[in-house]
Amino acid sequence: MKLRPASGRLPASLASSALAACGGARPAGSPAGPGAERIADLFWAMTGLGTVVFLIVCAGLVYALAHRRGPMVAPTPERDRRRTRMILLFGAILPALVLVPLLFWTFSTIGAIDPRARPSDLVVDVVGKQWWWQIKYRHPDPRRSFTTANELHVPVGRRVELRLTSTDVIHSFWVPELHGKTDLIPGRENVAWIEASRPGVYGGQCAEYCGMQHAHMGLLVIAHPPEEFERWAAGQREAAAEPADSLARLGRKAFVGSACALCHAVRGTPAGGNLGPDLTHLASRRTLAAGLLPNTPGHLGGWISNPQALKPGTRMPRVPLSRREFQLIHHYLQTLR
Ligand code: CUA
Repeated sequence: MKLRPASGRLPASLASSALAACGGARPAGSPAGPGAERIADLFWAMTGLGTVVFLIVCAGLVYALAHRRGPMVAPTPERDRRRTRMILLFGAILPALVLVPLLFWTFSTIGAIDPRARPSDLVVDVVGKQWWWQIKYRHPDPRRSFTTANELHVPVGRRVELRLTSTDVIHSFWVPELHGKTDLIPGRENVAWIEASRPGVYGGQCAEYCGMQHAHMGLLVIAHPPEEFERWAAGQREAAAEPADSLARLGRKAFVGSACALCHAVRGTPAGGNLGPDLTHLASRRTLAAGLLPNTPGHLGGWISNPQALKPGTRMPRVPLSRREFQLIHHYLQTLR
């Protein structure tokens, strides 16, 4: 029987493909950074060795079943010595030969992926929220700091330090192609780092159950060549551009005067809410609602008109807007490049 999605909800397959459809994110695949490479090497070594041990145990079991003797075999000193030797060999020596090298390999991997192992080129604060990611680019000069959401842009070949925390429940940051998981815990700052060794779009996902929309707490890591990253950061640092047409000017007025501005900030306007994502450069992002929807005019319209239908339980309420207000705000948000 085919399961139909509950009314108003997106089929799970559409939701999960939204990330992949935007900007060519590939499904989790081969490691694309030194952290993920170290973890993958260890994983494959453990899997390979585990498989060899499993096959040896199976072969031993088959051999023992094929050669079993009756229960009445009388013990002799020679048999006792053999038994002791077998127990030592298979119960202590062989396991130690397998496990001790793996233990040291694990220590060495932990050392290599330790965020304190070497200095980072860039520090980014990542704050987990139900159910989206707030991303703040730190700079010693506050005028050069900026905030965005659900997309973490990084320069290729540079080590990016992530300061992870949460303002509500425990989340977990996981971008499999770049690094292992690190939890985001309220009242605590965890440090992790990522480094992408080639440009690309890498899908990430909250990996700790954090409530109703945990599965729709996705993010994208976008790795640019360093000059392209600098151009991107310079654009994001800017306040929202002055509206180019009268419709956008009216849209800005409608946005600032609506309930939207209580939760969202658009830098360069009086809208300064910080409960929801910063929308200053919303139109430059690939997805809406933390990876749930591709950022297209149609999805944006659907999201503004009824977020609860698309992401039930999301903190964004359905804001009552007249048809005219909706059209103006919808148009204005698309100009925020
Ligand atoms: Cu946030 Cu699961």
